[in-house]
Amino acid sequence: MDNYMRLKIKAISSNEAFARSAVAAFCVDANPTVDKLADVKTAVSEAVTNSIVHGYNGSGEGEVEIYVERSGNTVHIEVKDCGVGIENIEKARTPFFTTKPDEERSGMGFTVMESFMDSLSVEPNVPRGVVVKMSKNLDGAEKTTE
Ligand SMILES: Nc1ncnc2c1ncn2[C@@H]1O[C@H](COP(=O)(O)OP(=O)(O)OP(=O)(O)O)[C@@H](O)[C@H]1O
Ligand SMILES: [Mg+2]
Repeated sequence: MDNYMRLKIKAISSNEAFARSAVAAFCVDANPTVDKLADVKTAVSEAVTNSIVHGYNGSGEGEVEIYVERSGNTVHIEVKDCGVGIENIEKARTPFFTTKPDEERSGMGFTVMESFMDSLSVEPNVPRGVVVKMSKNLDGAEKTTE
């Protein structure tokens, strides 16, 4: 492991853009392509938003903790909350599954995280809440499009 950072933010939606940008700034040392950095920002944004709107039910109470570790060109990211937790994680990860359909949620957050990152795991946090772990290789040389 070459570097790491840990960030704790109040669970309010105005902190979501800050968290996303802070993680992106940290990832610059991984020599990312613009596209891959955008993917990371989107995935972090989805995870942090979930903690705020679902974990803490939009109450503004509680904290979201973000830990990022870099090994070479690969970053491992954890987004953790101590909110209500997820009863059935497998079901929650299903595309279009949402417990807040009335709030313009489409149930695509986990699907986006999964497709934008190389790996995604969703686990209960102990003693309560959720921890989302994801990783991605950001190296421009790995890009295989075209
Ligand atoms: N941190 C969390 N704490 C508690 N429940 C969560 C958390 N993250 C996700 N969930 C649950 O998992 C469901 C699916 O999450 P997902 O991000 O895929 O969709 P969504 O947030 O409902 O909609 P979208 O992300 O498209 O706005 C949520 O509706 C919620 O019930
Ligand atoms: Mg979501």
